[in-house]
Amino acid sequence: QSAAVGSRLLHSFYQFFPCSLSPSLPGPLSLPLLGNMLELAHDHLPSHLTSLARRYGNIYRLKCGNTTMVVLNSGDIIREALVKKWSDFAGRPHSYTGDVVSGGGRSISLGDYSEEWRAHRRLAHNALQRCSQQSLHGVIQKQALHLRQVLLDYNGRAADLSEDFTVAASNVITTLAFGKEYEKSSAELQRLHGCLNEIVSLWGSPWISALDSFPLLRKLPNPPFSRLLKEVARRDDIIRTHLDEYKMQAPSKTSEEAIAITSALLNGLGKPQDTTQGVVLTDTHVHMATVDLLIGGTETTAAWLSWTVAFLLHRPEVQYRVYDELCSVLDGRYPQYSDRHRLPVLCAVISEVLRLRPVAPLAVPHRAIRDSSIAGYFIPKNTVIIPNLFGAHHDPAVWTDPYAFKPERFLEGGGASTRALLPFGGGARLCLGEAVAKMELFLFTAYLLRDFQFVPAESQTSLPDLTGVASVVLKAKAYTVIARPRPGP
Ligand code: HEM
Repeated sequence: QSAAVGSRLLHSFYQFFPCSLSPSLPGPLSLPLLGNMLELAHDHLPSHLTSLARRYGNIYRLKCGNTTMVVLNSGDIIREALVKKWSDFAGRPHSYTGDVVSGGGRSISLGDYSEEWRAHRRLAHNALQRCSQQSLHGVIQKQALHLRQVLLDYNGRAADLSEDFTVAASNVITTLAFGKEYEKSSAELQRLHGCLNEIVSLWGSPWISALDSFPLLRKLPNPPFSRLLKEVARRDDIIRTHLDEYKMQAPSKTSEEAIAITSALLNGLGKPQDTTQGVVLTDTHVHMATVDLLIGGTETTAAWLSWTVAFLLHRPEVQYRVYDELCSVLDGRYPQYSDRHRLPVLCAVISEVLRLRPVAPLAVPHRAIRDSSIAGYFIPKNTVIIPNLFGAHHDPAVWTDPYAFKPERFLEGGGASTRALLPFGGGARLCLGEAVAKMELFLFTAYLLRDFQFVPAESQTSLPDLTGVASVVLKAKAYTVIARPRPGP
């Protein structure tokens, strides 16, 4: 309580005596016009921002055009902003390119904090929760068994599994969303993934983010931006067709389709939502919520699975330990999510991969809705806040040997706590799919490690690179692996 009173006092203090009396935020020298643009053009931004924290401290500022960004690099500071002061920092920055990909700021992930946004998020949250309770476990198990067959079909050949992981994760979401699943070779799936992938990687590229900070550049030809516009139009076309089909077939739906999220979202339309301003949500909200779930729920989970296999190749003895645990606890059967409390080694591997490679390493930028403070520094309204989750997960003050893959740190006596992890962010903007993701990570990993031993591809002289490629999602570089079937029970 005294902390809350202290923070309120500090807040009132800054309102009367703005920034001049507050310590000024440290940060690298800002160049005329460019500001700190060069710092942001780094090709592994999360690790570069983390190295800047070693120089400037766990909170520092960067300038980009007219925008001031504040980068938060420790768990405590990120929690202060996102959880404790969530109502000050729940906004999203308005941006030219963000508007392009989010239908003018109408998506849940990029929409600014407002009554309408709250109603939209609540509608999607309730729909996701209802469908998850009814069918999520079975949907993931089905996709895990399907993935098992795909891996068996490789017949011990080395393969890049990243696309198989993407198809599995995507099928969980499309089954939940529309009651539909696809084969890897399906043209419809290729089209959908093609454009979602392009949008995520183009939007994260410096050629496009430069348009947000330097409006004059918008007048020049920009081929990546033209491609982004084309892919967004393609994405909207695909989703529109799905939603139209879904509505037309409403009376003849199978039970799986009838309980799909689309159904729950559509049922919520037209009714004034439970807000003081009586917001009415429309088809556009259903459209954008579908985009949010597809984008948020596919590449993240798939990237995490690729990281897990990559790390396990580096420490095969950990893979043996998980397999041993699965055999002795499950006695040959496939796991249920409720088994997680009896599988500590598997859970420790999941936590350690989430720590080392939080797949949304910089979360999504937040915006200060009003003047506030973080860690004693004055933060004016409209400051952009970057929660560097990657940095917090490598903070040497919290984690011993922070760069090493050591799942045992999360086992009894290992000294680490999962409470120090923040892979899904926190507060009002906590990942909407956290519960879905946690069940997916557990079941997919348990099924894979029960049925296969992952060994390095014969032709490979070295193990997978563990640095990765960082855009909005932090992905492993492409590698091949042999999935060797384990003997049956
Ligand atoms: C937002 C992480 C899977 C849907 C986020 C954020 C993070 C995150 C860090 C940003 C939080 C912030 O702005 O502070 C992850 C990780 C995942 C995962 C690590 C898996 C390993 C999923 C799944 C779904 C999903 C499966 C959908 C079913 C979303 C949505 C948002 C979001 C819609 C935007 C929330 C908002 O702005 O209010 N996620 N996510 N995510 N995620 Fe996830």
